[in-house]
Amino acid sequence: GKVAVLFGGTSAEREISILSGTGVLEALRSRGVDAHAFDPAERDLVELKREGFARCFIALHGRHGEDGTVQGALELLGIPYTGSGVMASSVAMDKVMTKRLWLADGLPTPKYVRLAADQQSREQIRAVPDVLGLPLIVKPPREGSSIGVTKVAGYSEMQDAVALSAKYDADVLCEEFIEGEEVTCAVLGHGLDAVALPVVRIAAPAGAYDYQNKYFTDDVKYHCPSGLPEVEEKEIQRLTLAAYRTLGCRGWGRSDVMIRASDRKPFLLELNTSPGMTTHSLVPMSARAIGIAYEDLCVRVLASAAL
Ligand code: DAL
Ligand code: MG
Repeated sequence: GKVAVLFGGTSAEREISILSGTGVLEALRSRGVDAHAFDPAERDLVELKREGFARCFIALHGRHGEDGTVQGALELLGIPYTGSGVMASSVAMDKVMTKRLWLADGLPTPKYVRLAADQQSREQIRAVPDVLGLPLIVKPPREGSSIGVTKVAGYSEMQDAVALSAKYDADVLCEEFIEGEEVTCAVLGHGLDAVALPVVRIAAPAGAYDYQNKYFTDDVKYHCPSGLPEVEEKEIQRLTLAAYRTLGCRGWGRSDVMIRASDRKPFLLELNTSPGMTTHSLVPMSARAIGIAYEDLCVRVLASAAL
């Protein structure tokens, strides 16, 4: 039957979703899938049902796409969709909720302070570096692609960092900065059948892996195979699968992890339930390293569509 590739949407990551979705759409068509573009920012999701779509490939990022809302609508419409279900999607969208579940299961994630909307007085903001040390990271808990993120070097920068983050999310997440290497690990499948793909190691100029160089420059070097010692590679994969299962993820996903330079301890930052599929994106890179072409990756993810 007909497949709708959902992309665009209304989140701050709209631009990236369009890049992901365009790639997925072309790939599925090249493999003979009767795939059509569908932008929930322009059309009501109920039209999916009216037009007889049999399945959806979700290539939306961020809120109203990756956060369980679209997933819930598709549940009600009875149309199978790719990726995690309602609960895992909404928990994974929120980095604070994610941390709480990981910590409850004994999984390592950087220390944090959540500043809820009513906890952002000057005094409360100033107190954060005393708890987390400096530098530290300030970010909106429900965004992606490094949007609204600041690496804070001193007390004087805290106020602006919180104000920037609060433009995107009323709650603000302050996180201990882990000095070390940034890696990412993709997962395909679900439950006990979930498999971790090879780890990708990210080498960004001056350690800044931000929105611009994530997608629009060629300044970042990606290593896959990662070049990490085998035991570290395996440990990142094991942790990622545990993190994925703790959140109850399904279909596919991608963890973002920091390896602390001082003792090589890995820390989970987040789990993306609708990973980027742009030409610069990491899941396609990792799949390619084990001989899965971009088109085949799209077909495989589509095949996992479920209700
Ligand atoms: N949030 C972006 C799309 C990613 O994680 O790939
Ligand atoms: Mg993300």
